[in-house]
Amino acid sequence: MTMNADKDVEGRFRKGSPLLLVLAALSAFAQSSVPSGARYWTASTRFVGSSQCAICHPYEAAKYAASSMSRAMESVTTCAILQGDIHYSYRSGEYSYSITRDGAKVIYTVTNGKERFTTPLEYAFGRGKAGQTYVYSVAGRYYESRVSYYSEINNLDLTVGARNAPPADLAAAAGRLMEGNDPRDCFGCHTTGARLAGTLQLRDYEPGVQCESCHGPGGDHLDALIAGKPITGTIRALANMDPQQNNEFCGTCHRTWQTVAMLGIKGINTSRFPAYRITSSPCFSLDDRRIACTTCHDPHGGLVSEDKAYDSKCTACHNGSDKKVCPVAKESCTSCHMPKVSPPEAHHAFPDHWFRIVHSKDDYPE
Ligand code: HEC
Ligand code: HEC
Ligand code: HEC
Ligand code: HEC
Ligand code: HEC
Ligand code: HEC
Ligand code: HEC
Repeated sequence: MTMNADKDVEGRFRKGSPLLLVLAALSAFAQSSVPSGARYWTASTRFVGSSQCAICHPYEAAKYAASSMSRAMESVTTCAILQGDIHYSYRSGEYSYSITRDGAKVIYTVTNGKERFTTPLEYAFGRGKAGQTYVYSVAGRYYESRVSYYSEINNLDLTVGARNAPPADLAAAAGRLMEGNDPRDCFGCHTTGARLAGTLQLRDYEPGVQCESCHGPGGDHLDALIAGKPITGTIRALANMDPQQNNEFCGTCHRTWQTVAMLGIKGINTSRFPAYRITSSPCFSLDDRRIACTTCHDPHGGLVSEDKAYDSKCTACHNGSDKKVCPVAKESCTSCHMPKVSPPEAHHAFPDHWFRIVHSKDDYPE
């Protein structure tokens, strides 16, 4: 890194990037369960925006664009699922639902034949694999759409959880009022910087999980770089986490073992939570980095879906000299030992991170 590059950054930085956030408040992560200590956490509370990070870290930035995490939330105006001449629909009992486009707007309509509720949608949560749920507001309060889009059916179906709560009226049939900390937490996990000092603010944030969601606000890092000072400790490095730290870190959003236990989630719905499932696998170890999340998943890359790509991760331990070897096969380990499990409402089969010998089709240990 030369001083020229720094000056260049300073120039662009000072031009007033819309992403330059100078916020003298505690960041969302200050109150999250991310392990504390200088190795993970820096004191900076100022977000600078991922476009700044990309100037000096183009390799991570380019790769990260392929991760669905980077688009975990989008405005309905840019969301790919909502472009063009769309007409998504669904019917549940007396209620009919549709999502259509009207110029720049995406219109959500719910009717029972007599009355009609219609509103523009604002935010699209998720990429559709396990669902895309919409958030809209009425009189300053946020609602979660009662129907979601699912890629597998390329259409709408009830939002996960909605089946258990029959609507009392048309408004409730359209969506669930997000109460208490719900909006804050929703945006907190799916955006960067919207959850600040324990509250939700939507004036200045980045949609999706961006660099500073994981690495923490980059203000101090940039100040040090611009001033030509050492950068040590100015940004959360996140390197060399052991499986326990890694579980807790990724688990801030993917839910830790403790969170799943506390929420009382049981049965195959737990397949959604890798940090929870993996801890029960005989493969798991608290301190052997060969079974940490980031050993198998590049935090900056897209999800790799080729079974064979994970073989070397398994045989790093299962090589005969260390752990036992398979009497059945030498490749595509995860195709047999990581069964895909479909929770009833998800329209998606989650790969079960409890690596094991699967005894039957319905074998789902807890
Ligand atoms: C002006 C250039 C510049 C900008 C902008 C910048 N960085 Fe860095 N960053 C560096 C340099 C130089 C290093 C040290 C050398 C290296 O590890 O590549 C570094 C190191 C890092 C490290 C490793 C830290 C460590 O202790 O090992 C992380 C993580 C990081 N940067 C993330 C970010 C993020 C996130 C952003 C945006 C908020 C960002 N950087 C913005 C130049 C920059
Ligand atoms: C700030 C919250 C947050 C953190 C921290 C986080 N994730 Fe995610 N992750 C998400 C969200 C939200 C999604 C769902 C994205 C979508 O499809 O909308 C996701 C999706 C994923 C996916 C699926 C990608 C795909 O293409 O289907 C993988 C793999 C993943 N995360 C791995 C990790 C790992 C490994 C870590 C820890 C290094 C981690 N995540 C930390 C929020 C987070
Ligand atoms: C604790 C962090 C957290 C909170 C709070 C949270 N999510 Fe998520 N969400 C995730 C993670 C991680 C994933 C990816 C794994 C999965 O599909 O469960 C995800 C997945 C999703 C998906 C499926 C994404 C896809 O591409 O298939 C949707 C839709 C979604 N969330 C919507 C919401 C909505 C709406 C709220 C608020 C009511 C919310 N989430 C609250 C972390 C969170
Ligand atoms: C989902 C969480 C997550 C997100 C989002 C994320 N990172 Fe990282 N990043 C990590 C983890 C975990 C590591 C440590 C990787 C390891 O253990 O090798 C890391 C490491 C790094 C490093 C150090 C790399 C090295 O080889 O020393 C840089 C630089 C970096 N990230 C930049 C970025 C930038 C720029 C962005 C946004 C485009 C970004 N990260 C987004 C989790 C994340
Ligand atoms: C030993 C390797 C391994 C480890 C360790 C591992 N995973 Fe995975 N993970 C996989 C494989 C294999 C898949 C399935 C990829 C596919 O077929 O799409 C996967 C899929 C995922 C997905 C996408 C789920 C979906 O619905 O498609 C998420 C999210 C994820 N892992 C998160 C994590 C987190 C968080 C951790 C740490 C707690 C972790 N993984 C640890 C191998 C691993
Ligand atoms: C950190 C080392 C480590 C890694 C990585 C690892 N395992 Fe294991 N695995 C173990 C240990 C330890 C056991 C307990 C038996 C033993 O000593 O071999 C085990 C047991 C198993 C068993 C037998 C479980 C049972 O139900 O009896 C299977 C199957 C298995 N592993 C598959 C895998 C697959 C597939 C992968 C890659 C996705 C993997 N393992 C990655 C350490 C590991
Ligand atoms: C075609 C499905 C299939 C594939 C692919 C597969 N396995 Fe297995 N594996 C099995 C079955 C079935 C058993 C149980 C065999 C038995 O009990 O006789 C088993 C047993 C094991 C065991 C327990 C061995 C013991 O002595 O207790 C380990 C460890 C294991 N596999 C790891 C792996 C690894 C690592 C890979 C990839 C290199 C892999 N498996 C690929 C089906 C498979």
